[in-house]
Amino acid sequence: MIIVLDGPAGSGKSSTAKAIADKLHLQYLDSGALYRAITYQYIKAGESSSLFDNLDKMNLTFNYDAGNFRVFIDDEECTAAIRSKQVSGSVSKVAANPLVRKYVNRLMKNYASSFASIADGRDLGSAVFPDAAVKFYLQASAEVRAERRTSEMHQMGQEVSYDEVLQNIMERDRIDSSREHDPLRKAEDAIVVQTDQMTFEEQVALCIQHILSKTSHTT
Ligand code: DC
Repeated sequence: MIIVLDGPAGSGKSSTAKAIADKLHLQYLDSGALYRAITYQYIKAGESSSLFDNLDKMNLTFNYDAGNFRVFIDDEECTAAIRSKQVSGSVSKVAANPLVRKYVNRLMKNYASSFASIADGRDLGSAVFPDAAVKFYLQASAEVRAERRTSEMHQMGQEVSYDEVLQNIMERDRIDSSREHDPLRKAEDAIVVQTDQMTFEEQVALCIQHILSKTSHTT
């Protein structure tokens, strides 16, 4: 079984999906982290696009462990490094590449065929998992998302201003929604959760209520 949560950058998808995973004993799959890991490797390789033709040679592995989605390339853990400003600034461009999307989608489908999971991303309900058991689309204004992202980054010890984060979010919204391959899109049958005015606990509870009513899954 796979449950998907799509939405724009900073809409609270990953924290919501993790809380649901922990409450319902599901595996959590962070598709953005996979695009970030490839971007990290791309930057490390001097931004050479030959990486995209040789993705099958890249040993990208991941697991969900005690609330933490961990990512490894050739056994080197890059979980923290993929959250850098540099990676955030280039990831939308890398994620627009069709070879990259094909590779990440294959990794995700393999994972979802082995575990009962909840995954978050941009195009999971519309392109990757059209038959997902439940689909959510999380929405919030760019300003609210930037506030949340800025405080998250401050908590991680990163020096960043609200304005810088807002610019990055708006630019990523633009690229993610307008790209040719699998743009950010709400699936027709997705449940929209507007989170601006909701507390975190409220949005998690609402999603769990929908999951329990639409699947045979129990707590
Ligand atoms: O969720 P995030 O901000 O960590 O995602 C990083 C980038 O990856 C985001 O700018 C768009 C891209 N992405 C995507 O294109 N498709 C997905 N399913 C998930 C993320």
